[in-house]
Amino acid sequence: MRTEVGIVGAGPAGLVLAHLLHLRGIDSVVLEARGREYVERRIRAGVLEQGTVDLLDEMGVGERLRREGLVHEGIELQFGGERHRIDFPSLTGGRAITVYGQQEVVKDLIAARIETGRPLLFEVGDVTVNGVETDAPSIGFVHDGERGELRCEFVAGCDGYHGVCRESIPAGVLTEFSREYPFGWLGILAEAPPSNDELIYCYHERGFALHSMRSPTLTRLYLQCRPDEDLDEWPDDRIWDELERRFALEGWMLNRGEIVEKGVTGMRSFVVEPMQFGRLFLAGDAAHIVPPTGAKGLNLAVADVRILADALAAWFEHGDESRLAGYSAEVLRRIWRAEHFSWWMTSMLHRLEGGDAFDVKLQLAQLAYVASSPRAAASLAENYVGLERV
Ligand code: APR
Ligand code: PHB
Repeated sequence: MRTEVGIVGAGPAGLVLAHLLHLRGIDSVVLEARGREYVERRIRAGVLEQGTVDLLDEMGVGERLRREGLVHEGIELQFGGERHRIDFPSLTGGRAITVYGQQEVVKDLIAARIETGRPLLFEVGDVTVNGVETDAPSIGFVHDGERGELRCEFVAGCDGYHGVCRESIPAGVLTEFSREYPFGWLGILAEAPPSNDELIYCYHERGFALHSMRSPTLTRLYLQCRPDEDLDEWPDDRIWDELERRFALEGWMLNRGEIVEKGVTGMRSFVVEPMQFGRLFLAGDAAHIVPPTGAKGLNLAVADVRILADALAAWFEHGDESRLAGYSAEVLRRIWRAEHFSWWMTSMLHRLEGGDAFDVKLQLAQLAYVASSPRAAASLAENYVGLERV
């Protein structure tokens, strides 16, 4: 098998890259470890920056997103028994975000890929990345019980945090930067209408809580918990009671419904530099992780591959190597901005284990500043909707 770009992973990074390359007449093969059903069902993030929506639209995959996505012009911050709205358009020159599940984006992208007739292989095993230091890299894999080899000009490592591409780079090449947080999120998806029109980021002495949604009938809710929290200790009633305590506000009610999904996610910040080794380029979660508090993960993955697609096109169309050489440094500017924003939101909003009364006072002072100063609010807002230039 031969192609121009071998793409490992059919998450948002791999699928957006494949489609951007297709639109420029560049051939690729996408190899995905899981089955189609699994990747289309996996519940992940749900906030799309304006720039992400615009790109999906320009690519011709934004039709359902425009129809079903929920445009949000603000979020609410709750602390000290009050809610404060951060209004995006007035603070960012008219920008907003769209709430639309990551798995819906993935479904739309898979449908678009299949439409192109270019290859997307599911349930691929034993992936190995070879010869990326030469002009003739290849990817070894097993599909339908048969061993295959994909020869290509470049390999795109879009295989997420647990993928094989980053791991295939020899020791000593990459520098890792990371931070673990001593808490996680217990997340639920419930068949209940959202209890508020907008997302609520809630600071509470019992821990952070987040109210989000997927549609007019589906609510997504999160509670700060231990990173290794045992779900067996959380029957549905306990989850609802805890959510109610944290979101409690005079005259407001939390809608309950059947919980259709429940899970615990740990939180970490992680970056590797550089995001390239020879002809292997890393993009998305394969190279960086943010804690979900800033809602940046999916948007960063898309921002990476937009630049990677341009750089690859410059090489295929004009033999220009400079864009590829500059890829890592270019995308890392946005990544580090998002790393800071996500760490900042996380630190401001979570109950810090081992923290003392002084920490709490600092968090409340910061929240009060963001809620009362248009300049402080504008900084949160422009990062949240996505910076046009970094
Ligand atoms: N071979 C082939 N595919 C693999 C392999 C492998 N060895 N290992 C992992 N994969 C696949 C995974 O099954 C997954 O479908 O790579 C894909 C990576 O997709 P994501 O994890 O969604 O990563 P990415 O495309 O970078 O998107 C980042 O995902 O985790 C969220 O919050 C994060 O929203 C962000 C987004
Ligand atoms: C979500 O809807 O899943 C969601 C929203 C905002 C976040 C994180 C997750 O910051």
